[in-house]
Amino acid sequence: MDANATTPLLPEVLDAMRPWLMENFGNASSIHRYGQQARSAVEHARANVSALLNCRESEIVFTSGGTESDNMALFGLVQPGDHVITSSIEHHAVLHAAERLRDRGVEVTFLPVDGSGVVDPEEVRRSLRANTKLISVMMANNETGVIQPIEEIGRMAQEADVWFHTDAVQAAGKLPIDVKAIGCDLLSISGHKMHAPQGTGILYVRRGTRIEPLFFGGAHERQRRAGTENVAGIAGLGRAAELAVESLRNGTLDRVALLRDRLERGLLERVENCGVNGGVTAKRVPNTTNLYFDDLEGEALVIALDLKGLAVSGGSACMSGATEPSHVLLAMGLVPERSRASLRFSLTKLNTEADVDAALELVPAAVSRLRELAPVNAGTLG
Ligand SMILES: Cc1ncc(COP(=O)(O)O)c(C=O)c1O
Repeated sequence: MDANATTPLLPEVLDAMRPWLMENFGNASSIHRYGQQARSAVEHARANVSALLNCRESEIVFTSGGTESDNMALFGLVQPGDHVITSSIEHHAVLHAAERLRDRGVEVTFLPVDGSGVVDPEEVRRSLRANTKLISVMMANNETGVIQPIEEIGRMAQEADVWFHTDAVQAAGKLPIDVKAIGCDLLSISGHKMHAPQGTGILYVRRGTRIEPLFFGGAHERQRRAGTENVAGIAGLGRAAELAVESLRNGTLDRVALLRDRLERGLLERVENCGVNGGVTAKRVPNTTNLYFDDLEGEALVIALDLKGLAVSGGSACMSGATEPSHVLLAMGLVPERSRASLRFSLTKLNTEADVDAALELVPAAVSRLRELAPVNAGTLG
């Protein structure tokens, strides 16, 4: 139940990758037949990815993942003296890139969020300046699953003639994505969050967006991303995109939402001093719930559940190892103790009712045991 950290390859995805790892291992830039076969695999994948996003094939740049796509969007458009608007709940791939830009003389506004974890589009409008070059606000948050009002922000960006990037890493495969309806110029996706291999990603770059590459070398990806293509990874990503479109159409995500809701309701009923971060009112992706279990350390609960075979996450996976409370939950106004007492459960379409039943047994038992052992902060959270 840690799908927002990563997802398993689907067998169909592995099947799509296998030929490009073994017998057909050509370099997609070679003019001989082995190269041309690899090229056709890359272009076939590009067509599938563009269908997922409703864009032109030429607007897809294959990257090494969400982090690279986010970095390319920010570093590729912004110069010292420009102003960037982003939010305080972005993934570190955007937040730390924005901080680096600030060190280099770019003005950066980090917008707050409300108690449900939502950015207010009016705050975006109020933050616009004459030198605002780029707005970057994520589509769905990785820790809470809360969906941001990006269509409104996109309209505003268009009116103000400012570039708009959205990190859609946690939305891809969970929500329909139409780059035209969003009105974004740039959009990031990571393969491994949607059943493609780790180390694969996409940056959608709207035609006419003048973006500087991060890497220099060959003329790959229409001179936007130098480096020999990861043909097998790209073939897997294309197949995963095709399967994601199918899942979005055939009701699979509704089933995931029902499982998530049953898990959430079941835990709220069975565990005292437990609640949903991100509010039940905020719109969320169908697979994610973030819950606090007051009076314990979330990290201890993650470990206790791991010992029983249940994988969940406290804060974001990229934070694990650090004892810092989640920047997302703090930005939503949680006190550090409650933030540290919070866990994220994130499902895939492969999860079953039996998985939810098991979690509904394991989590309440582990919470009671930990609270008995170490009643930390008892009473401090009201
Ligand atoms: C919202 C978001 N953006 C970016 C990333 C980074 O993606 P990748 O792991 O492919 O570098 C993640 C990964 O957790 C994410 O959740």
